[in-house]
Amino acid sequence: MTSTLSRALASYPNRFDPAVLDALPGRLQDTIRRRSEVLGPGYTLIYRTPVEFVSGHGAHLIDRDGNDYLDAYNNVPCVGHAHPHVVEAVTRQMSAVNINTRYVQDSLVDYAERLLATFPSELSKLSVACSGSEANDLAMRVARFHTGAEGIIVTRWAYHGITREVASFSPTLGTGSPLGPNVRLIDPPDPRLVAPGSTLADRRCVARSTTWSVTVTGSPPWSRTGRTAATGSSPTRSAT
Ligand SMILES: Cc1ncc(COP(=O)(O)O)c(C=O)c1O
Repeated sequence: MTSTLSRALASYPNRFDPAVLDALPGRLQDTIRRRSEVLGPGYTLIYRTPVEFVSGHGAHLIDRDGNDYLDAYNNVPCVGHAHPHVVEAVTRQMSAVNINTRYVQDSLVDYAERLLATFPSELSKLSVACSGSEANDLAMRVARFHTGAEGIIVTRWAYHGITREVASFSPTLGTGSPLGPNVRLIDPPDPRLVAPGSTLADRRCVARSTTWSVTVTGSPPWSRTGRTAATGSSPTRSAT
């Protein structure tokens, strides 16, 4: 258990450490205990003291004690919390009908037309998904189909979702969910290392020097010929 936890913490540095659960306020402690009884271990919490939000509006989140947080990190809502237009549209549709895309439905076509009208003409088709995991899974299929390549570069501690494909390039899921042979990790650039007034070139340099630079030359072992050709060897790496 301890080694599972330390592996998990290593793969996700701001993860809540259940070893300190007893030190939390009673109610929060109780909810976290109940949560771990009924949710799988993949449902992690973040921060030393997990935060419990009870409502949100616009860019703000409110916790159980009434503290108001600026939401710069929770990435679920695209247009803010409790946006009246979204609340009204979802309520209207759920009160009317909830069917899959193999039936004709005006609202889907109306939406696709309105959305596509906001994009350049090359982006002329819409695919809909219910979750980020599905959207990322689909994006990988599109990218593979288009490039014929298999390699994926992701930042350490990235999370992209829970389908089998997407979990294979989500390092935060820990060692219980191994990365695919075609996946390479890089560190995210560290903005703390960028001096004020630095140029874009300086920033690129920092991005390179905080990680291994991954230089893919020619045809890497995992591209085009597919996973079966992967030998475990890395693409050309050079420490900078
Ligand atoms: C960055 C990122 N990508 C993908 C996902 C997966 O989205 P979903 O939970 O809707 O499948 C999440 C979910 O939090 C996310 O934060």
